[in-house]
Amino acid sequence: MATVELPEPDPDGSTSVERAIAKRASRRSFAQTPVTLEDVSQLLWAAQGTTHVRDGVEMRAAPSAGATYPLTAFLEVTEDGASRLDPGLYRYDPDSHALETELETSIRGELTTAALGQDVVRDAPATIVLAAHAERTRTQYPDHGERYVHMEAGHAAANVHLVCESRELNTCPVGAFSDADVAAVLGLPERLDPLYLLPFGRRPAET
Ligand SMILES: Cc1cc2nc3c(=O)[nH]c(=O)nc-3n(C[C@H](O)[C@H](O)[C@H](O)COP(=O)(O)O)c2cc1C
Repeated sequence: MATVELPEPDPDGSTSVERAIAKRASRRSFAQTPVTLEDVSQLLWAAQGTTHVRDGVEMRAAPSAGATYPLTAFLEVTEDGASRLDPGLYRYDPDSHALETELETSIRGELTTAALGQDVVRDAPATIVLAAHAERTRTQYPDHGERYVHMEAGHAAANVHLVCESRELNTCPVGAFSDADVAAVLGLPERLDPLYLLPFGRRPAET
């Protein structure tokens, strides 16, 4: 399957973290214009991109209990949803900061149904799906591993949400969906559980 190199992430946004926090809101409407490959790059980097090396390990933008890194970010793109990206499903590879093509056809209809028909998923040009290989963290933390994985997904989603605000993109975290249906639509291997959908797109002129 094809690899799509992403533009280098830009560590200098134009909005302060405090301003992004102050402006942050769940926004469920989108302009029907494509997001850019730079938007995709910044959001996936904020979710799970690498930031620095510690003891020979590439550390990521969101914290992880014991640096176990159980999360995988997928990107679903609808027809004309993103410039320079075909519709379909991609897996984000943090180490190469690239997308690996998983499916070469739009799964928007099935994903919306799996998300209980929510308009925010149907209308967004693109959606990040956070999935977890929880066993990685549970093995190291038998008592609290499950909880840690959910906390980590929250960290990654918060990063995405704040970068959306910084770039004047709209997003809304979506947790209401059928786990089994999202897993089936994405063709996830059994070890991966979907945890969070982050539909995003350009802000309509009136919001
Ligand atoms: C774990 C979680 C799951 C959520 N799931 C959904 C969802 O499925 N659909 C939706 O429209 N909003 C969802 N939301 C967004 C909340 O409705 C929203 O954060 C809340 O109304 C507060 O509004 P604000 O984010 O604008 O401050 C979810 C938020 C969280 C934190």
